[in-house]
Amino acid sequence: MADAFGAALKGPRAPMDTDAVRAAYKRQADTYDSWFGLISRHSRRAVVDAVNKAPGEQVLEVGVGTGLALPLYSPAKRVTGIDLSSEMLLKARARAAALGLRNIEDLAEMDATATTFPDGHFDIAVAMFVASVVPKPRALLAELKRIVKPGGTILLVNHFAQDRGPIWWIEHALAPASSLIGWHPDFKLGHIFDPTDLAAAKITNMPPLGLFRLVELTNRPGQ
Ligand SMILES: C[S@@+](CC[C@H](N)C(=O)[O-])C[C@H]1O[C@@H](n2cnc3c(N)ncnc32)[C@H](O)[C@@H]1O
Repeated sequence: MADAFGAALKGPRAPMDTDAVRAAYKRQADTYDSWFGLISRHSRRAVVDAVNKAPGEQVLEVGVGTGLALPLYSPAKRVTGIDLSSEMLLKARARAAALGLRNIEDLAEMDATATTFPDGHFDIAVAMFVASVVPKPRALLAELKRIVKPGGTILLVNHFAQDRGPIWWIEHALAPASSLIGWHPDFKLGHIFDPTDLAAAKITNMPPLGLFRLVELTNRPGQ
């Protein structure tokens, strides 16, 4: 177990920098909704349901992308979205405007691992299919812990790689293509969460076929 955790700390095999992330999502902005949007639709709805049930009003969605989740938030939630990709954000802004979503406070170009928000600014932070994209996943979690209130809610949904078996072979084979596809197929829970987080987290398998897992954490800064 200690060895497995040590290996996980090394990170995915083909890390992307922020320029590679921007380039990948510039390429994908026009087609994203029709393929990944569909695969991830059920999980996205389930995660936003969890956001809507969580206490507090101020929500941060990091890596908001084309804004597929924006219409799903309760009008009682005040939502800020951030993303690295200006092309993905253009789509999110157009969606919010077209649907007249008055609870969307801001959609801003910002790096989720180094935001300009003050400590404890949000009640809830949510990252959907972002953890396996960001160049520094541990910096992402540290930043979410800083900007969410103590006792607030952090929700991440993602594909997390297996340790063995046929799916592991596919994940491993796809890993060198990370920059092309825009995420790391070999990304594991241990690349972002330490054992203390994992012991405290509620982890739920999501459809289709348990491809995605939802991780819910209560923010305990310093843990
Ligand atoms: C797979 S898409 C997910 C989009 C959206 N969350 C969804 O559910 O459809 C990943 C998004 O994360 C964004 N992203 C990656 N790294 C980021 C970072 N460090 N800060 C902010 N956004 C980032 C990408 O630009 C892209 O829009």
